[in-house]
Amino acid sequence: MTALTSETFGSDAYSFGVDVGGSGIKGAVVDLSTGEFVGERMKVTTPQPATPQAVAAVIAEVVQRAEWAGPVGVALPSVIKGRSALTAANIDQEWIGTNVYELLRTNLGDRDYAVLNDADAAGLAEVAFGDPQTRQGSVVFLTFGTGIGSALLVDGTLFPNTELGHMVIGGREAEHFASSAVREREDLSYKVWASRVSTVIKEYERLLNPTAFVVGGGISRKADKWVPLLEVNADVFPARLRNRAGIVGAAMAARDHVNP
Ligand code: BGC
Repeated sequence: MTALTSETFGSDAYSFGVDVGGSGIKGAVVDLSTGEFVGERMKVTTPQPATPQAVAAVIAEVVQRAEWAGPVGVALPSVIKGRSALTAANIDQEWIGTNVYELLRTNLGDRDYAVLNDADAAGLAEVAFGDPQTRQGSVVFLTFGTGIGSALLVDGTLFPNTELGHMVIGGREAEHFASSAVREREDLSYKVWASRVSTVIKEYERLLNPTAFVVGGGISRKADKWVPLLEVNADVFPARLRNRAGIVGAAMAARDHVNP
């Protein structure tokens, strides 16, 4: 089979996104006009320890399996500044200070790359392909999973590397009492958990006054159980792309040469 590149389909129409998570590394070719995957989404269990070298080898495997030879965007649970990761959540601490572009080039060869925070990637994708009402205005995107990830967007343009999940609210980091992992660990009802999320979102609203919030993560599948319970003045939209968001946003970033 001939290698697929963005040229195969017409320039900039398709790209490849990879979402690196604590449990899985997922990648797919993305149709950038629809936000849909072309072909299957590939998932490989995250190697343990999830060192830069081990993760890069899996990314290379995923890209090669898709026979993709074009640009690659990678979403990481890290603050990314310039070319390097400055933090590492649920991946090995060896990521801190790693030049991710150099790492990718060594493992996947010379091509265009974009590397960005996972919540930033998901936020970009959600405002582009999720509820059309979020395309304009100031939007705070939040993803509830193991931690709380955040992305700030104004008319679809990203203010990168916000780490709102680490804001201290009521004496505790937000993600230590209102992430989806905490709900599971403490076996909280949706009502109790939603009231914790409300506490967090109300504080974000008090400080940032956005037009709207978009709430995502795996738990957005159960949005009807908790989103209506949130007490916040701005509009709240459940994320629509679910677990596609990180991959799609990473692919968009590669096309747009995003370099936070
Ligand atoms: C990390 C963020 C990440 C979020 C979701 C947080 O713990 O600090 O960088 O976006 O988890 O993975």
